Amino acid sequence: MEKAQIGVVGGLGHIGLIQAACLAKLGYKTTGYDKDMQKVEEILKGNLPFYEPGLHEIVEKTLKNGLLKFTSNVEDLKSCDPIFICVGTPSLPDGEADVSQVFASVEEVARNRKSPCTVVIKSTVPLGTNRKIAKYLEEKSLDDKAVIVSNPEFLQEGSGVRDFLKPSRIIVGAQSEEIAEKIAGLYSPPEVPVIITTWENAELIKHAANAFLANKISFINEIAVLCEKVGGDIRVVSRGIGLDPRINPHFLEAGAGFSGPCLEKDLKSLIAQFQKKGKQAKLLESVLEVNEEKRKEVVHKLEEQLGTLAGKHIGVLGMAFKAETDDVRDSHSLPIVRYLLSLGAMLTVHDPWVKSFREAGFSEDDFPGVKWAQTPYEAADGKDALLILTAWPEYRALDMARIRDSLVHPLIVDGRNLFDPREMKAANIMYLGVGI
Ligand code: UDX
Repeated sequence: MEKAQIGVVGGLGHIGLIQAACLAKLGYKTTGYDKDMQKVEEILKGNLPFYEPGLHEIVEKTLKNGLLKFTSNVEDLKSCDPIFICVGTPSLPDGEADVSQVFASVEEVARNRKSPCTVVIKSTVPLGTNRKIAKYLEEKSLDDKAVIVSNPEFLQEGSGVRDFLKPSRIIVGAQSEEIAEKIAGLYSPPEVPVIITTWENAELIKHAANAFLANKISFINEIAVLCEKVGGDIRVVSRGIGLDPRINPHFLEAGAGFSGPCLEKDLKSLIAQFQKKGKQAKLLESVLEVNEEKRKEVVHKLEEQLGTLAGKHIGVLGMAFKAETDDVRDSHSLPIVRYLLSLGAMLTVHDPWVKSFREAGFSEDDFPGVKWAQTPYEAADGKDALLILTAWPEYRALDMARIRDSLVHPLIVDGRNLFDPREMKAANIMYLGVGI
């Protein structure tokens, strides 16, 4: 049987590119469509718009063998079926997700079809959106061109390729079981659990999964507060509770809170959806509050040691929202940097992969006076303290005696618990982690 030809709209975004490249790796002829012509030109030259381990090799190989194509012309999707929608759903001021790009993409696809196709919504959309899209198509008399299926993604940045190829589960929400099975069958590792369900359940599963992960992090971060008060060690406590298979060891690392383009956005969106239905998501609101506290806490630790931060020089290590990604979108480092600036601190920041705010898509003017260091040692040199915000492996491997000697005060506040406090004490470093 001939394999399906697949289209991916938003094919150069974080989710879309992994989706397109990995489908091509599975042997499907796949066309990634992205309106951004420049990005399309760049990828055809081998320049990916972001870093994701293993992705470059797959893109290179599948472009070469002709299974993967990119285009900025929607007409090139005409013979594709199914077509995945992977465009962004950024947060609106009230926390709700902005689904305008999703609606526009579905309409554009449907208008450019002669024959019907299955349109699969991968983008994270609020509850009820898939049903609204189907209704919208009906109103525009385009429902004979597109059948809507929900198939949320669960890709973690940094392990997106592995998560795609070895998923923990495949969730498909649809009105027709037959179509849902076809979509689930595209991924086809036989041992992977598949849930075929309604649009609403699929949407809920996606939001509840991210909210639960955020919940785990805020939970352990709250216990970390008590650890500091009683001389406990949150790493031992995490291990001790994570060994219970009902809890499991994942997402129990205490630190300066969770961030990134998904967890916080999806949590805020879920809270907004409760409010819209006249309900309050008390637990989820607390998860967010604890997270915001956690970001401030690292700054307060600096203040406790240095007094006022006005005029103090602080080196900050890590701008990406987590290690193994160059993604700064919604990184916790940004509000922490802003908070430090509001207190009058003078900052030198470093990240192994991010080299300027401009490169990360921000204006340098939003971060007045912040200097970028080429190395972590430069970030520490002559500073009153060092603040670690991202768990880059290169930071773990730093020569701490050299760091200590270059600081004015041997003070390190570590929002990622990269070091053993006993070793730091032995090295005469005043080391303050989270919950240790
Ligand atoms: C997340 C979900 O994990 C993924 O399933 C979904 O599809 C997209 O959102 P991602 O945004 O890549 O993935 O980040 P994730 O690895 O979940 O980490 C999110 C944040 O939580 C990071 O800031 C990370 O540092 C923090 N984190 C994670 C902790 O603070 N402690 C932990 O134990 C785990």
